[in-house]
Amino acid sequence: MIVILLGPPGVGKGTQGARLAEELEWRHLSTGDLLRDHRKRGTALGDRARSFMDRGDLVPDELILDMVRDELRELDGGVIFDGFPRTLPQARGLDRVLDGLGRELDRVLVLEADDEVLVKRLSGRRRCPGCGRTYNVHFDPPADQGRCDECGDELVHRADDDPDTVRTRLEVYRDQTEPLIAFYSSASVPVVTVDGDQPMDEVQEEIQEAVTGDDAGDGEG
Ligand code: AP5
Repeated sequence: MIVILLGPPGVGKGTQGARLAEELEWRHLSTGDLLRDHRKRGTALGDRARSFMDRGDLVPDELILDMVRDELRELDGGVIFDGFPRTLPQARGLDRVLDGLGRELDRVLVLEADDEVLVKRLSGRRRCPGCGRTYNVHFDPPADQGRCDECGDELVHRADDDPDTVRTRLEVYRDQTEPLIAFYSSASVPVVTVDGDQPMDEVQEEIQEAVTGDDAGDGEG
């Protein structure tokens, strides 16, 4: 089964996508995480993506599509896309890639929350650079302030989570990514909206219901 997790910055795509992937043993493919990994490794792609990411703009479609094509050379089992596609050209590009692999998209899940919730979440988000686990100083703090519960590394605040850049990212989402909801609805892909402003376990429960419902298939596509 192939599912897209769509929604504004801070709504919980990464948190919920990782939990779903672990639960169902699916692949969690986050373009944001892939790009941050390229930056960390100092690849040419990472260097080109840096300035777009730091100001809250989207990285150009052709770079993203090349990166995703590379990741999807082989595609078995269930996949949850997090943060991709984000534009109409990316959505059409994904369709072509899936066609070539003989797979098709099963669901689009749209996570929603008000802007003030998103801004507060992003101001409190902290991430472990070692294992990638995400925390929130307001809602999900580590036991030892500033350090990862799993590996003890010092937690970091993402540079693009400063309030001005968050505002830009929200505008970019409304302008360029939200139109994908109408695109997929008109393509007859089931689009399910989930209230992202609930406790994390409840959001996860609704997501799992949406993907493992009666006609949801067995995860093998
Ligand atoms: P990306 O990393 O994808 O960022 P994003 O979409 O802006 O989403 P976030 O990671 O900020 O939020 P999230 O929804 O995953 O929330 P999270 O679970 O962390 O992209 C970053 C940049 O890369 C983009 O701006 C762009 O430049 C580039 N990029 C990436 N993909 C691209 C593409 N396809 N095309 C072009 N450019 C691309 O949760 C947020 C916080 O809230 C956490 O602290 C969490 O603990 C907390 N939280 C989550 N759920 C709850 C809850 N229910 N209750 C309370 N707290 C919660």
